[in-house]
Amino acid sequence: MLPPLPRLIGHRGVAAHAPENTLAGIRWAHSAGLKMIEFDAKLTGDDEAILMHDDTLDRTTDGRGKVRDLSLAELKKRDAGGWFGPGFAGERIPTLAEALALCGELGIAVNIEIKPCRGRAKHTAARVLQVAAEHWRPNWPLPLVSSFDTDCLIVAREKMPNWPRGFLLETRPIDWHDLLSVIQPATLNVGDTHWSASDWADYRATHLPIVVYTVNDGDRARRLIDQGAAALITDDPALLAPALGIRLS
Ligand code: G3P
Ligand code: MG
Repeated sequence: MLPPLPRLIGHRGVAAHAPENTLAGIRWAHSAGLKMIEFDAKLTGDDEAILMHDDTLDRTTDGRGKVRDLSLAELKKRDAGGWFGPGFAGERIPTLAEALALCGELGIAVNIEIKPCRGRAKHTAARVLQVAAEHWRPNWPLPLVSSFDTDCLIVAREKMPNWPRGFLLETRPIDWHDLLSVIQPATLNVGDTHWSASDWADYRATHLPIVVYTVNDGDRARRLIDQGAAALITDDPALLAPALGIRLS
């Protein structure tokens, strides 16, 4: 069952204000008053689930190389905050377990985007869900599990059928209706720049909540909500909140 979606969901934590996919980002989201965040989960070379967007370390750490070629111990030596700003130097790549524990402690709901390294989709989905299930507490709201990779969503349906799935879409696939019946999503997570009016009408016709990513403009946010979007994933909630009449505390 899909827990109530807040209007605003932090992207990769709160990517405009803290290094993406880090514990610092989760703390920032909490202090900014967000009730839910999205982050990206993938596997290390030794099959540990971590938060990381890219397949390589290069952009968001002081290291280089492929995540899938490195162990968790090696990845933990890398600085995942200094690239963003000196105040975040020393921030480490979090494990999924560490991130979930912090979200649970702070009362933040999560959208776990399964982001497999190339060629590792089913294995990544199975392992990420296994770790998440092992660390889940019964009093936490169920996570929204999303992915662009339909294999990951099919594994999610098999392994954790009661956890709501978010069908991430860049463009509307041709076999759209077939995929809907296979995945049985709870939400459609739609890229903001890739839909036409007829796409949107089709999305609305499913009666599924539409979550739009990544929205960083107040006027745009207002228009999307007026058109029927249920929630917006944003790097900068403080930019959108006034346009939506939301008070973030
Ligand atoms: O889940 C929404 C959004 O995060 C998908 O795109 O590339 O930022 O992970 P990306
Ligand atoms: Mg993501």
